[in-house]
Amino acid sequence: MIELAPSILSADFSRLADQMQVAAEGGAAVIHVDVMDGHFVPNITLGPPVVKSLRRATKLPLDCHLMIENPGEYIPAFADAGADWISVHQEVDRHLDRTLHLIKDHDCLAGVVINPATPVEMLTDVLDIIDYVLVMSVNPGFGAQKFIPAALHKIRRLAELRAKRGLQYRIEIDGGISLETVGDVVRAGAEILVAGNAVFGKGDPKSNAQNLLKAANEAAMIKV
Ligand code: DX5
Ligand code: ZN
Repeated sequence: MIELAPSILSADFSRLADQMQVAAEGGAAVIHVDVMDGHFVPNITLGPPVVKSLRRATKLPLDCHLMIENPGEYIPAFADAGADWISVHQEVDRHLDRTLHLIKDHDCLAGVVINPATPVEMLTDVLDIIDYVLVMSVNPGFGAQKFIPAALHKIRRLAELRAKRGLQYRIEIDGGISLETVGDVVRAGAEILVAGNAVFGKGDPKSNAQNLLKAANEAAMIKV
């Protein structure tokens, strides 16, 4: 099943409740929340207090993508604020296994994110404990960047590994997803599609979301 996860990074931060509502009307299944610390990535966004407010403003699950150093230290704060899914970058966590268990102990879905330069093989020993893998198809830090096609073979590889090992994790893709790229990522095996600029960048977020989902579902039908 294909799910759309609009990223509020490209939304109007003064109207997040309204923007999430419009995204939901457009078929969003989950709200993608980009957390940046100005250290791991060269940008700063939001933290647990904002997640707490988002939690009150939508019923959709909150998918918190932590682009921060020392993510393990902040898991309780994000979980308590109302995060439903929490993903951490493989590149920053020297104790990834511990952090993933901490996320699950807080009753959240646990995900690992890999940057464009990180191979899927770095996840070999955690694939059996995670709920989802988030493949970055841009270098994290900013919205509205160009899709990096090398992400496609990673999605295929993750789908192959999952079948071979009989695992259940879902595959999420983040960065540069638009009407031009959505078909390729779905045909490669992506199931959760993050989209910031393509939903909130210009025009009507509701119809933008609907059009993206329609294109994704059409690509999924062709794949089957
Ligand atoms: C980038 C973020 C993305 C971003 C995607 O660091 O992780 O979630 O919002 O934005 P678009 O869809 O505009 O590439
Ligand atoms: Zn993200």
